[in-house]
Amino acid sequence: MRTIIVCKSVSHGNTRKVADVIGEVLGSRIVDPSEIDAAELSSYELVGFGSGVRNMDYYQELRAFVRALPGEQRRKAFVFHTGGFPEPPFRRYQHNFTGLLEQKGFEVLDTFSCFGYDTLWPFLIVGGVRKGRPNAADLAAARTFAENLRTTAA
Ligand SMILES: Cc1cc2nc3c(=O)[nH]c(=O)nc-3n(C[C@H](O)[C@H](O)[C@H](O)COP(=O)(O)O)c2cc1C
Repeated sequence: MRTIIVCKSVSHGNTRKVADVIGEVLGSRIVDPSEIDAAELSSYELVGFGSGVRNMDYYQELRAFVRALPGEQRRKAFVFHTGGFPEPPFRRYQHNFTGLLEQKGFEVLDTFSCFGYDTLWPFLIVGGVRKGRPNAADLAAARTFAENLRTTAA
């Protein structure tokens, strides 16, 4: 199955580390949203979307990329993010992002998230939080996620 991961990783490359592991399992190309357009994306059967979290949402560039896609995608997708904190129940950004994909016609097969080293300024006073994340256990969980996806998507 031709697979691509569209990944926006800005702060520390945290999300890119997760994308690299998932991409290795699925044999997928990994691109920044600026490196691909809708026409080229349409040649892939399975599309992964990865993002860090900023101000309780996925990166604006990734959301804008999806918003600009034509509807009727009729393809499979998966979603993952790294963030400094668990998603709060009053701001379900992963849910909102998968909803956006579904509006575009994607069938979202699964989602994954883990902590990523966070240097939002108040936390810099203590050298940041979630140091070393994603760690080996996070990346092992990402690998399992990708292995399950390989089965689900087939
Ligand atoms: C300006 C700024 C805002 C952030 N806002 C949030 C947030 O609202 N929620 C959260 O869980 N993490 C937040 N983070 C932490 C990042 O999401 C986390 O470091 C993530 O792993 C970054 O991914 P990246 O290195 O792939 O860009 C923020 C970090 C920065 C620098």
